[in-house]
This record gives sequence, structure tokens and C-alpha cells, in this order.
Amino acid sequence: MTAPVVAVIGAGTMGHGIAYVAALAGCRVCLTDASAEQLARATQLIDRAFDKAIEKGKVTAAQRDAALVRLSTARTPEECAADATIVIEAIPERIDLKQELFAALEHVVSADALLASNTSSLSIGEIAAPLAHPERALGMHFFNPVPVMKLLEIVRGPSTSDDAVARARAFAALAGKEPIVVRDTPGFATSRLGVVLGLEAIRMLEQGVASAADIDRAMELGYNHPMGPLRLTDMVGLDVRLAIAEHLHTTLGEDTYRPPQLLRDKVARGELGKKTGQGFYRWENAQ
Ligand code: CAA
Repeated sequence: MTAPVVAVIGAGTMGHGIAYVAALAGCRVCLTDASAEQLARATQLIDRAFDKAIEKGKVTAAQRDAALVRLSTARTPEECAADATIVIEAIPERIDLKQELFAALEHVVSADALLASNTSSLSIGEIAAPLAHPERALGMHFFNPVPVMKLLEIVRGPSTSDDAVARARAFAALAGKEPIVVRDTPGFATSRLGVVLGLEAIRMLEQGVASAADIDRAMELGYNHPMGPLRLTDMVGLDVRLAIAEHLHTTLGEDTYRPPQLLRDKVARGELGKKTGQGFYRWENAQ
């Protein structure tokens, strides 16, 4: 199989990780972001990730150099996706933005290019609704930190073709990920379950059940989770978690997903977690 040519639209926490993994897997990759500053930051983070991986002996300098040759950046999504066979968007969780992006890119990419969304919870069917060829759209949901996390959640929309799912599976194999295929339902398999734990931990903190560190320790030591739910929320981004919770509360209509006031307050104050240096914890190395 020839390696796909990948365009990653959105160079935030997820986008830069997806670009890193795809370039290392042998794909030609173009990365873009609406913010030139964010794009520059993403390329620095990718360089830093390669340095760390070399230090740990996971990647050789030759592999890094080859991957960086395959990796480019572009100023616009159209320029970035021009010769892509797989477009992966990792832009903010807003359905209108995602619809507009895919509708614009459908005119730019080749007839058989896949349009994949890294959305954590939004409907693939809705994102693909304005497309002339919705069979090429699907979810390819990665997990943070992308280089480490093994799962690729493939989301099959109502019109997604078998060929699109098969090509997403092949990409997962190339990138060293294990795929699962999930029907297009709010929150899919991962966010629907994962968000419950995160929101309940925030409610427990609000109610003074225990400190953030002790709530996290409960899950780390009592349940063998690699990281407690509050630290994980910091890593994912409080704004990202809030957007997912709001969407799941609206679509599933269950109180389980009602965003706690503490989460809303922290997001309003710009305490978004690791990326801003402050969330439920203070982070020294803000991204
Ligand atoms: N990039 C690359 N590699 C990284 C990394 C990064 N950002 N962070 C950690 N690693 C690697 C380390 O190099 C290390 O590799 P080796 O074992 O080969 O040396 C390994 O991961 C473990 O790292 P550490 O020893 O530094 O730290 P740790 O043992 O505490 O693990 C962790 C860190 C992998 C992040 C672990 O705590 C973990 O798995 N946490 C849970 C992550 C998780 O649940 N992610 C999903 C979030 S939900 C999401 O992303 C989807 C969504 O829709 C919002």
C-alpha cells in the first residue's frame, strides 16, 4: 500500500500530535492552522516530541530527519489539502466550522479523498450533511497524547462507505493504532463514558468530598487508572471537556452530562488546563 498523503487542519493539542504520528508512519503530511502563531508553536512541539523520542531511544535521528522532510505547513486549508488522500480536521468543536471546512475542501481534494473529523462527540452525519459525497466522510478520533495512545475510534456516519472505513483501518495499522468502529451516536464509545467520570470528579470537588489530588489518587491507586480524572481533564483541556459535556447534555438529555458550575467558572477565567498553565492543577510547562 502506498502511504496516504495526509492534511491535518488545526494544529492544536491533537492536530500537532496527529501530524507527528502520520509523518513518522511514512506519510507525506501538511499541517495548517487559522493562527500562524499556533502553527509555529505546533512545529516547535513536534520538534520537541522528536527530541524526547530520540532521547528515549524510541526514534532514531534518521527517522526524525526523514519524517521532518515529509512534514510541511501551509497557510490555508485549501493549500494544505490540495493533494491529500486523507484530510483530518482537528479544529474547535463547532459543527458549523466543521461543516464549512469540509464543504470548502470537497471542491479542492480528489474525488476519492477521505474527509475525517477528529471530533470527540459531534455527529459525523451532520458534519457531512452539506457534502455532495458524504460517503467519504467519517470520524477518526485520536487520543491525547497522540503518539502514546493506542486507540483510533473510527466513527461510521449514516452515509460512510465500507471503503472509507477500510481505508481508515489501514491508516490506523500504518500509524500503529488499534481501531474500533463505532456507530455515529453522541459521544461515540469513548467520550460518552470518559466524560461521565471527569464531570463527576468536578462535582465531587465542588461538594468538598476531597482535594483534587486525593480524588485523582482514588482512581489512580484504587482503580489503576494511569491518571486521575481531574489531571486528565487538565490534559485534555477544560474548554474541550465543557464543549463535549454541553453537546452530550443537549443531545442525550441526561443530567449526568450537565456541566458543573466549577467547570464553567474555570473556563470563563481562562483556566483551561495544561495548555494555559492552570486548570485543576498548576502546570509549569504550558503548551
Ligand atoms: N508525547 C509523546 N510521548 C509521551 C507523551 C507525549 N506528550 N507523554 C508521555 N509520553 C510517553 C513517555 O515518553 C513514556 O514512554 P516510555 O514508557 O516508552 O518511556 C510514556 O508515554 C509514559 O510517560 P511518562 O512515564 O512520562 O508518564 P506516565 O507514565 O505518567 O504516562 C500518560 C503519561 C501516557 C499521559 C499516562 O498518564 C496516560 O495514559 N494518561 C491517560 C491519558 C488518556 O486517558 N488520554 C485520553 C484523553 S481523552 C482524549 O484525548 C480524547 C478526547 O476526545 C478529548
